[in-house]
Amino acid sequence: MTKPFDVLPVDASFGAVVTGLRLPELDGPAWRALHDSWLEYALLIFPGQFLEKDEQIAFARRFGPLEFEMGAVSNVREDGTLRVEEEGDDVVKILKGNEGWHADSTFKPIQAKGAVFSAEVVPTVGGHTGWADMRSAYDALDAATKAKVETLSAYHSLHYSQGRIGHVPKKGTDDYRRLGFEGDEDVLRPLVKVHPDTGRKSLLIGRHAHDIPGLAPEASQQLLQELIDFAAQPPRVYHHDWRAGDVVIWDNRCLLHQATPFDMTQRRIMWHTRIAGDPVSEAALG
Ligand SMILES: [Fe+2]
Repeated sequence: MTKPFDVLPVDASFGAVVTGLRLPELDGPAWRALHDSWLEYALLIFPGQFLEKDEQIAFARRFGPLEFEMGAVSNVREDGTLRVEEEGDDVVKILKGNEGWHADSTFKPIQAKGAVFSAEVVPTVGGHTGWADMRSAYDALDAATKAKVETLSAYHSLHYSQGRIGHVPKKGTDDYRRLGFEGDEDVLRPLVKVHPDTGRKSLLIGRHAHDIPGLAPEASQQLLQELIDFAAQPPRVYHHDWRAGDVVIWDNRCLLHQATPFDMTQRRIMWHTRIAGDPVSEAALG
């Protein structure tokens, strides 16, 4: 069946640019076709949508209940001044931490299903977002490694991942709560996740993962690093060079993503709407 929009795959094992539609105006059949494309490509990019905030939230809600409606991912404070890395700004440290490959909310009891992300103001240099396809990464593993990782799990923690870049925020501060540190107790997740809609297996790794039970700390660290290094390689990676008005939606159940550095003397304002994971399929072990 021909789709009521155009889908142009990007040069990677996943991901597609979708044009010829307005996201706020999708009727039922168009929505179902779009959802099918999302499950197939895992990352859909919609150039030049310029969504209003309520339109972005409404679009995300079609995919399921939200973990949160709208969060700014930005180096601009509400008063318009720029955050400065050298001043030890907690938000900047999270932006820096997010340059490591990760999936969202894997350190919480229920990891996220996906996210809608849009660009309002973009810097002229850098600030691309990368995604990596953990389905094709799993498929590309040799049989022995597949058999090994099938049996393993790892703890996930934001304290761990931010601690690795030297970020230990003060307890009880607004940032501590807002950035997700409060209530962060290590949760255990399998290294291989089965997608609840497609049945495809993927590697569930990333910067929040640490300490595989049954392995010595060094062996665990080494295996997790080797898996990331192998997984986040062409043809399994795509980096998007944003233009204002672009919107993407990604499937957090089978992709990792990363921020990339940008000129922080320039303004960058992005908006993130996070779709909640299903407690049946996205809950941590135990
Ligand atoms: Fe993220």
